[in-house]
Amino acid sequence: MNSKKILTGITTTGTPHLGNYVGAIRPAIASSEEQDHDSFFFLADYHALIKSRDSERLRQSCLEVAATWIASGLDIDHTYFYRQSDIPEILELNWILSNFTAKGLMNRAHAYKAAVDENEKVDPDKGITMGLFSYPVLMAADILMFNATHVPVGQDQIQHIEMTRDIAQRFNHHYGEIFTIPEGVIDNESSILPGLDGRKMSKSYGNIIPLFCDSKTLRKHVMKIKTNSLEPGEPKSTDDSLLFDIYKSFASEPQINSMKKSLEEGMSWGDAKNELYELLDGQLSNHRLKYDELIGDPSYLDKVLQQGAERAREVAKSNLDEIKSAIGLSSLS
Ligand code: TRP
Repeated sequence: MNSKKILTGITTTGTPHLGNYVGAIRPAIASSEEQDHDSFFFLADYHALIKSRDSERLRQSCLEVAATWIASGLDIDHTYFYRQSDIPEILELNWILSNFTAKGLMNRAHAYKAAVDENEKVDPDKGITMGLFSYPVLMAADILMFNATHVPVGQDQIQHIEMTRDIAQRFNHHYGEIFTIPEGVIDNESSILPGLDGRKMSKSYGNIIPLFCDSKTLRKHVMKIKTNSLEPGEPKSTDDSLLFDIYKSFASEPQINSMKKSLEEGMSWGDAKNELYELLDGQLSNHRLKYDELIGDPSYLDKVLQQGAERAREVAKSNLDEIKSAIGLSSLS
């Protein structure tokens, strides 16, 4: 096993979209092809439970996320690809870590504070479960279970990585250097894709382009991208153009230059949208075929995830033994 370990979790609460692909999936798969580290990618399905009350939707999202990663080219034999809920050691560690987590630290978590603020003064605890409150401890367990060194996440998750470091340091302070202190790696700013309306592409803004929808639906979404009201023939700047920003994330250098030139020379937004659609459809269509095949074969996905979990559990079990032994919960003889 390499000393550098990259780990990241994907909460299974929705259907993957173009922004997930450009910001997380594509760079993660590219980096997993390098030989200098081990990669751990998992479906954070217990994290999804914090928001989900729809069992069928949760199951469907796990299916879609797993199929998306594999269809996008993830090498399942050379990475650890598993479901969080298949690794019971993570939940054992979760309890252990809870005892090294100051309640005050959790009080400061952004997601929890936002939920309390929404409640205003009436009842600050309204609708807040222990799952939401202790969310960062479970995330720490995900990371520390495998001694991850690098954790790629969106900006909104950096606080959780800081908390993980804090929890690990408290533990190590008592029991020695058991845990590796992980570093958060923020997704590259330039790889944050804008949505149809210009805000970051996100399910919560309802401005997404689904990743593996059929060609017709993809086309419909591309046509909805907001542009300004410049007429065909009028020169258009690429500086504040959503359409161009999305195009850039998929096109080659010469394609980018040629699109820029055409727009400056008056190409219509309609034609530009058509070009973007052709580009996306061309790049995604192979993956889409594979995706549809995988979605139609859930038992194959189960098998892949089970095998991934078996391999990951070997690592988790051996690390948990060491942790339990450090705290005094090992064999009595
Ligand atoms: N909370 C993360 C998110 O919503 C997902 C996640 C769960 C995660 N466990 C993790 C990310 C461990 C990195 C490492 O995006």
